[in-house]
Amino acid sequence: MPQKKTRVLILGAHGRLGGSLQACWSESHDVTGFARPALDVSDLKSLKNLLGNLEFDVLVNATGLTNVDRCESAREEANLVNTLAPAVMAECASQQGARLIHFSTDYVFNGEKHEPYTEDDIPSPLGWYGLTKLEGERLVQASDPLHMVVRVSWVFGPAKPSFVDSLIQRALHDVRVEAVDDKFSSPTSATDAAQWLEVFFDPSMPGGLYHACNSGQCSWREYGTKALEYGAAGGLIFRTTRVEPIRLADMKQFIAPRPVYSILSTRKLTEATGHTPRHWQEALRDYILKKYAPISSPS
Ligand SMILES: NC(=O)c1ccc[n+]([C@@H]2O[C@H](COP(=O)([O-])OP(=O)(O)OC[C@H]3O[C@@H](n4cnc5c(N)ncnc54)[C@H](OP(=O)(O)O)[C@@H]3O)[C@@H](O)[C@H]2O)c1
Repeated sequence: MPQKKTRVLILGAHGRLGGSLQACWSESHDVTGFARPALDVSDLKSLKNLLGNLEFDVLVNATGLTNVDRCESAREEANLVNTLAPAVMAECASQQGARLIHFSTDYVFNGEKHEPYTEDDIPSPLGWYGLTKLEGERLVQASDPLHMVVRVSWVFGPAKPSFVDSLIQRALHDVRVEAVDDKFSSPTSATDAAQWLEVFFDPSMPGGLYHACNSGQCSWREYGTKALEYGAAGGLIFRTTRVEPIRLADMKQFIAPRPVYSILSTRKLTEATGHTPRHWQEALRDYILKKYAPISSPS
């Protein structure tokens, strides 16, 4: 007998993460996506009305005011989108016995640790983005133990360009490209995340707080260097394949303070699912070859 499809409702379906989750999960589940302008989640009343009129087994919140510098000035909007809207989503999901999968960030940490952050580490955000995301996490977790908060970092995927795509574009046109050499994190493949999280559609899986990123760690410069290496291997003709180092302190255009070290430990995710995320280099290589060299890439 065919298994009943899970009804998944994704908010933020045109985002980098939400778009990839929708594409991956649509193959096996009954997935509906909402994006702006169909739904502005900062309109809390409309959000509540809409969710009250829809039926779903799993609600996924992939919305977020993710521009960390903009959050410093758009404080009220950040508070609405990153903190108050997730609380409404949590309440509405609970009312129909559905699980909320809510995404958060490595920016809840201050970056002073020297080994991977676990879910038990005490967050201490440096900027308004991290603060509003942390408050959103807390409201979601306080609302229902079924709900999940999933912290990701440095997301890349096919739905929307990210740092590696913009670095590739720059190296196609410029003889000099540069990236920060003294800030470290773990890239997260949005399509890999779809696989890791699908098992949580089963309501008997434990909810709570999880870190979810690919294994390994790197600086922005190492991340970019690998992107150019894989792009060149796939046949892209760059004007340079060397990424020059710059320091975080030299990024004068950055307004918000950023953690210099935000590697996330995924041990809890592995213990819950039995699955260890593959290394970020392998995931990045697959992504770049598929996107930029679909014909010449080795199978
Ligand atoms: N990207 C990363 O490296 C990263 C790292 C750590 C954590 N995260 C977390 O991952 C989640 C997904 O982020 P992402 O990487 O997919 O970023 P993204 O591409 O910026 O996606 C966020 C989506 O939220 C939407 N949104 C913002 N305000 C909204 C509103 N008022 N109403 C409806 N939609 C709204 C955006 O729509 P518009 O395009 O119309 O603005 C966008 O499509 C977020 O929770 C973020 O905090 C991301």
